[in-house]
Amino acid sequence: MNSNVILVLGATGQSGLAFIEEALQLADPPKLVLFVRNKSKLPQTAVENANVSIVSGNLTDYEALSSAMQQHSVTSVVSFLGAYVSASALITRAKPTPIADSFPVIIDAMKNSGVRHLMALSTPSYWVEGQDVSTWKLQIYGLMPVIFAPQGNAEMVKIAEEVVAKGDSLDWTIFRIPHLTDESSDLPVWAGYAGPSHKGSLSLSRGSLARWVLTEIKERKWTKGAPFLGNM
Ligand SMILES: *[C@@H]1O[C@H](CO)[C@@H](O)[C@H](O)[C@H]1NC(C)=O
Ligand SMILES: *[C@@H]1O[C@H](CO)[C@@H](O)[C@H](O)[C@H]1NC(C)=O
Ligand SMILES: *[C@@H]1O[C@H](CO)[C@@H](O)[C@H](O)[C@H]1NC(C)=O
Repeated sequence: MNSNVILVLGATGQSGLAFIEEALQLADPPKLVLFVRNKSKLPQTAVENANVSIVSGNLTDYEALSSAMQQHSVTSVVSFLGAYVSASALITRAKPTPIADSFPVIIDAMKNSGVRHLMALSTPSYWVEGQDVSTWKLQIYGLMPVIFAPQGNAEMVKIAEEVVAKGDSLDWTIFRIPHLTDESSDLPVWAGYAGPSHKGSLSLSRGSLARWVLTEIKERKWTKGAPFLGNM
């Protein structure tokens, strides 16, 4: 019996939806708690699944986050937030990094609810000094398709920075993604730092990303690490 209870942030985005699908397909599925602003964006199959709970709230709502974590005895928080910020949303929003700014609230709710494990999506625009080989920076940047507007990139960097700054007492993993695709979930995923030994391509299918995250929740190979993922 799978004893993991996973609170999913960004569940209604494309990667979040792929994650829900892959998780519920497992022979021994975890329990999912989907923390969403708008329930009607979730597929009916997820809404009706006995292993899925849905909690409505926004990311700055400490009470809603804490009570979701406590009520459902959440063991891991997984964030797919940030990758779906549209250009128009970037222009109209009042704060430059609203998603990253909510991470201190999310992390406080985790600490006060006894949830230790956090996995958060970021991109290689968050550069890991001392791990990533800096001569590779330009190559990766040059090859990477433009996924985010500059403001979106700032957001992804800040999400990772907030997790590192505030997550001392947590077991966190930042997973950095390249260009996401809808290719097969069966594609193998390479995880590691940027440099000459990097074997991943600069694309990653959402299904294979979902499977990698589910495996990492079980195996915990990348605690306090920030691997850059890519299909091989
Ligand atoms: C919620 O999502 C549905 C389906 O995408 C959409 O039609 C509706 O306008 C959304 N509601 C809000 C308040 O954003
Ligand atoms: C819910 O998960 C349990 C394992 O934790 C599994 O045995 C059961 O079949 C799942 N239920 C559904 C509806 O998938
Ligand atoms: C988020 O929820 C809090 C608490 O309910 C509320 O004060 C705040 O206005 C909400 N923010 C947004 C953007 O809906």
